[in-house]
Amino acid sequence: MSISQIARTINESATLRLNEKAAILREKGDPVIHLGGGEPKSSAPIDAIVAAAGLLNSGAVRYTPADGTRAMKKAIIRYTEEFYGRKVAPENVMVSGGAKQAIMVALQAILNPQEEVIFPAPYWVSYPEMAKLCQAIPVAAVPEDGSFYPRIQDIEEKVGSYTKAVIINSPNNPSGVMYSAEFIADVVEFCEKRDLYLIMDDIYHRLIFDQKKPISCYDYATDFSENSKLIVINGISKQYAMTGFRIGWAVASKRLIEVMTTIQGHQTSGPSALLQAAAVAAINGVQSQVENLRVTLENNRDVMIAHLNSFAGVKVTKPDGTFYCFADFSVYDKDSRRLSEYLLEKVQVVTVPGVEFGMEGYLRLSYCGSIKDITEGIERMKWALDPDSPNELYIGERKLVRDWA
Ligand SMILES: Cc1ncc(COP(=O)(O)O)c(C=O)c1O
Repeated sequence: MSISQIARTINESATLRLNEKAAILREKGDPVIHLGGGEPKSSAPIDAIVAAAGLLNSGAVRYTPADGTRAMKKAIIRYTEEFYGRKVAPENVMVSGGAKQAIMVALQAILNPQEEVIFPAPYWVSYPEMAKLCQAIPVAAVPEDGSFYPRIQDIEEKVGSYTKAVIINSPNNPSGVMYSAEFIADVVEFCEKRDLYLIMDDIYHRLIFDQKKPISCYDYATDFSENSKLIVINGISKQYAMTGFRIGWAVASKRLIEVMTTIQGHQTSGPSALLQAAAVAAINGVQSQVENLRVTLENNRDVMIAHLNSFAGVKVTKPDGTFYCFADFSVYDKDSRRLSEYLLEKVQVVTVPGVEFGMEGYLRLSYCGSIKDITEGIERMKWALDPDSPNELYIGERKLVRDWA
């Protein structure tokens, strides 16, 4: 089969592949524990469901403007004012089919072939592939001090004449760490000075713990003119547990939004009217569900960290937000793909290999499931890896006996 050069360079999304694998095993009746997931388990806000159902019942579900409905843009403008302290105009906003599409379209609007995009490692699996889809070059900046907290020097070192953009994701998928206000200030200042685009992927900015507050990049920006190269990305997937609704957005200069809208208009037209109606209702509706989710995740994080801390040889940084942690399992196997496969095969626990996020020897573990899944999942992993654990393990009625260590 003849496929394009670009298509040949693109890797499948590891997280989506694992989701499918877990679903197939579950359908077969296997007692799989999914610690690889990227979505909260709570249901969508009732306001969202009622709004979408109302529009659906009307039977008049039509095309929307390529940059989103007026109501959705209004909701995003209010959201931006509330969480970022920044007043923007409808022309500064584009609604997309998820934050993923908003980032992709932004990259298509700014990147030429061979130009470079820098992002700190560990990074979200899609950034390198998105850059490659634009025939651009992804460049990971690994924090030199071995932590998950980059310093501006780590970014600076990677900048060259081909650098076009920097992507910052905080709180971060997969590490869960939230970068400091000082770092965000440094990055904003640096990108303004060097005339680089800065994409702030804030998709987890309301899911933060320990009384931390979301950081607004606008607090550190000085250029609010049409030359501003700041692009802020957000969406409803994580904070409202509405992953399947596929609504996200970008806030940027009017000129850039215009270009992005032209691109999106030819790709997918505007996002679904039905799903935008649901998103408007979620953003404007009762917000207690976001707080409930945040509190649940904070508690889940504590449980997961306590269990991992009692796991011989495993090192983990306490996440400040999201629903992931990125634990160093290199003491057991430095090859994270092999380790992840092994855990799935031996004890039916799904984890995501660290190498997919640009760091070998780690596993990404999600705590967006139930406490039972977290505790049982980690116990199964301990049993499979730690030679000091008991020789037998029960998974439901099934007795497993260690026969390989
Ligand atoms: C860092 C990051 N950015 C963006 C997205 C995409 O979110 P959406 O569901 O809105 O496309 C995800 C989803 O996993 C993510 O982890």
